[in-house]
Amino acid sequence: MSNITLTLLILCFSASLYDASALDSDGVTLLSLLTHWTYVPHIINSTWNASHSVSCSWHGVQCNHAYHVISLNLTDLGIHGQLGPEIGQLYSLKILVLSNNGFSGKVPSELSNCSLLELLDLSNNSFSGQIPFSFGEFRNLSHMSLSSNWLTGVIPDSLFRIPRLEEVNLSKNLLTGTIPANIGVIPQNLGINSSLVKLDITNNKFTGNLPPNLCFLKRLSVLNMGSNQLNGSIPSDLGRCKTLSMLILSENNFTSSLPVFESNANLKYLHISKNKIGGPIPPSLENCTNLAAINMSMNKFTGLIPSALGKLVNLTVLDLSHNNLEGSLPPQLSNCSKMDHFDVGFNSLNGSFPSSMRSWKGITTLILRENNFTGGIPGFFSEFSKLRELQLGGNLIGGSIPPSLGKLKNLFYGLNLSRNELTGVIPLELGYAAGSSTLDVSQQARNEE
Ligand SMILES: *[C@@H]1O[C@H](CO)[C@@H](O)[C@H](O)[C@H]1NC(C)=O
Ligand SMILES: *[C@@H]1O[C@H](CO)[C@@H](O)[C@H](O)[C@H]1NC(C)=O
Ligand SMILES: *[C@@H]1O[C@H](CO)[C@@H](O)[C@H](O)[C@H]1NC(C)=O
Ligand SMILES: *[C@@H]1O[C@H](CO)[C@@H](O)[C@H](O)[C@H]1NC(C)=O
Ligand SMILES: *[C@@H]1O[C@H](CO)[C@@H](O)[C@H](O)[C@H]1NC(C)=O
Ligand SMILES: *[C@@H]1O[C@H](CO)[C@@H](O)[C@H](O)[C@H]1NC(C)=O
Ligand SMILES: *[C@@H]1O[C@H](CO)[C@@H](O)[C@H](O)[C@H]1NC(C)=O
Ligand SMILES: *[C@@H]1O[C@H](CO)[C@@H](O)[C@H](O)[C@H]1NC(C)=O
Ligand SMILES: *[C@@H]1O[C@H](CO)[C@@H](O)[C@H](O)[C@H]1NC(C)=O
Ligand SMILES: *[C@@H]1O[C@H](CO)[C@@H](O)[C@H](O)[C@H]1NC(C)=O
Ligand SMILES: *[C@@H]1O[C@H](CO)[C@@H](O)[C@H](O)[C@H]1NC(C)=O
Ligand SMILES: *[C@@H]1O[C@H](CO)[C@@H](O)[C@H](O)[C@H]1NC(C)=O
Repeated sequence: MSNITLTLLILCFSASLYDASALDSDGVTLLSLLTHWTYVPHIINSTWNASHSVSCSWHGVQCNHAYHVISLNLTDLGIHGQLGPEIGQLYSLKILVLSNNGFSGKVPSELSNCSLLELLDLSNNSFSGQIPFSFGEFRNLSHMSLSSNWLTGVIPDSLFRIPRLEEVNLSKNLLTGTIPANIGVIPQNLGINSSLVKLDITNNKFTGNLPPNLCFLKRLSVLNMGSNQLNGSIPSDLGRCKTLSMLILSENNFTSSLPVFESNANLKYLHISKNKIGGPIPPSLENCTNLAAINMSMNKFTGLIPSALGKLVNLTVLDLSHNNLEGSLPPQLSNCSKMDHFDVGFNSLNGSFPSSMRSWKGITTLILRENNFTGGIPGFFSEFSKLRELQLGGNLIGGSIPPSLGKLKNLFYGLNLSRNELTGVIPLELGYAAGSSTLDVSQQARNEE
């Protein structure tokens, strides 16, 4: 080998050595994260280049003017493997998005060393283990989603001490324990107002009662706690939350009756289906004039449907099915002229369908089945041109079937008139509605003989 060749080789070798050592510490940290991955997508493989001096041009990476990494966004790249503890060495990181990948193993507690972190999104991965207690050390974290993972254990109390936290999404995990009582208590004790706006813990295994002071969260807008095993009564405090717009407590074990709603002015969505809540439907709901959707199905509500619901002019969904309601439909409901989905099936309601309800011009779903409704099928149903589902089965509805129902070309999900007291012939026109396959007019009491 000639001296020249040897010199060249040494030069090349030291040049590459020089280049490798030239990569700054954030870049080195990122490359060490790679070593924990079992699948590295090509876009990373081809841009995360050890010969660069800084990582600022690498896919998913953004830097500040000092070339420090402030954002790492690797959403939806099919990455598999673990999140290494080295992540805690990205001291300038403000945004970390690893959603929609195949990350597994623990969420490293070292992550809290990224003390400037503002947005953390680890949703839709396979992370397991507990939420690190060290998360309470974040000072600037405002948005956090750990949704759709396999996380277990309890919510660390420390989480709700993060002063700027606005959005916490822990939905779709295997979390247990109770909702930390300090959610309400903390702001009062420290004299600060919590910044929490959205809390979503749907689809976990939380047990116990709701803390009584959730409305100390002065900015709380979305409270989504559906599909857990929460019990006890719904705290009366929730009827006074002025900022609350969405309250979802469906599929739990709540008992007792609903609180009084006092000018709960922003409430738009009230979903409390599949609980064990009884008592009357509170007339105080009329105070929540912004309500767009109420789902109280599958509970134990009794008494009449309050006429006060007629004050909710923006209501589009009212589902009161599978309760023990009685009496007739209040004609005042006709004021809810934006009604789209009305379901009172499986109750003990009676009387006829009020003619004032002709105003429900945009209705798509009308379910009155399994009650004791009487009267005939109103001819004006044929004006409900958007109707896709009409379920009247299992009532005491008499008279003949108006041929004009044949005009309803959108009765796609079906027309069920079975088990009533209808007489006469089935109008030929009905075959045109529903494309015939979903039409059920069987078992009319008077036709059976
Ligand atoms: C790209 O990934 C493959 C395997 O995933 C690896 O063998 C190869 O060394 C990587 N290339 C670079 C430049 O990192
Ligand atoms: C890595 O960067 C060096 C220096 O910029 C460049 O010569 C080399 O081609 C790059 N490698 C890849 C795989 O892009
Ligand atoms: C992360 O990247 C995705 C796609 O590249 C983008 O849609 C999303 O807005 C980014 N998120 C953040 C917080 O920058
Ligand atoms: C979850 O991530 C996978 C890719 O890992 C993606 O196919 C899927 O659509 C994501 N789910 C949601 C709800 O975003
Ligand atoms: C990083 O985090 C770990 C675990 O949370 C902690 O023990 C360690 O002191 C932190 N390191 C630095 C430099 O902050
Ligand atoms: C935390 O965030 C606030 C508001 O965004 C900002 O003013 C402050 O400088 C941040 N703190 C640090 C240490 O970056
Ligand atoms: C929580 O995350 C899930 C899935 O990523 C999403 O569907 C849901 O809307 C989020 N909740 C809130 C309140 O934003
Ligand atoms: C907390 O909010 C109340 C009004 O809801 C306000 O009067 C008070 O000044 C706030 N306190 C702080 C420390 O921001
Ligand atoms: C509700 O409580 C009963 C026992 O009273 C239990 O069997 C059931 O699983 C609970 N349901 C939910 C959704 O937690
Ligand atoms: C509406 O709210 C007020 C308090 O703001 C309350 O006094 C009243 O009883 C509520 N209305 C009904 C019908 O309960
Ligand atoms: C109904 O909704 C509209 C906008 O969607 C809003 O402007 C109006 O104030 C609402 N009505 C009531 C009574 O809240
Ligand atoms: C209908 O009324 C009859 C007679 O009053 C009663 O026996 C039956 O339970 C009622 N059915 C429903 C679904 O309320």
